[in-house]
Amino acid sequence: MNAARLLLAGAVLTSAVALYAKPVARPAAPSAAELVAARQSGMDMSASALTLLKNASSNKVPLKNLAFPAGGLAKWAVALPTLFADSTKGAKSEAKPEVFTDRAGFNAKAQAYIDATKALAVAAAADDKPAFDAALASTGAACKGCHDSYKAAPPAKPG
Ligand code: HEC
Repeated sequence: MNAARLLLAGAVLTSAVALYAKPVARPAAPSAAELVAARQSGMDMSASALTLLKNASSNKVPLKNLAFPAGGLAKWAVALPTLFADSTKGAKSEAKPEVFTDRAGFNAKAQAYIDATKALAVAAAADDKPAFDAALASTGAACKGCHDSYKAAPPAKPG
């Protein structure tokens, strides 16, 4: 058997094995690492959305054009606490242990964020500039309010 035939035979055998191998069962729930990745990326995108909204408001972009990103922030605020499931306690992350030991406190900060972003979305849809700017300020304060108690500072960069 020459080398090409040997390769071909190997490939046929490999696909036959793949065909009959049992499919790998996916766990029903996301892993702790997957939840951490989801919440960290949501946080990054929410930071971008908030910057976009602040800049757009200073540049007098019509508020109706901002209803989509404002509504997205409000949806994210509701989802945020669900990504801090107990299964993620001890996972590599910047969440302080207090997130899990002081649930009531963490949930109160999450609720303040839900309320602020909801007001933001409502103000954008209603084209209410004073209410929108007030909600932008309370949204920023809600980020900081939670981080001050429940987010560890990122590890210092080497060098
Ligand atoms: C209810 C608490 C809470 C609120 C509200 C909150 N955060 Fe966070 N945030 C956290 C925690 C806890 C972490 C650390 C998460 C981790 O590392 O798993 C974090 C992480 C982050 C990170 C780093 C993500 C990464 O890539 O590691 C950014 C950026 C961030 N938040 C921005 C924001 C902004 C902007 C807002 C408001 C628009 C906000 N957060 C609102 C709790 C909160």
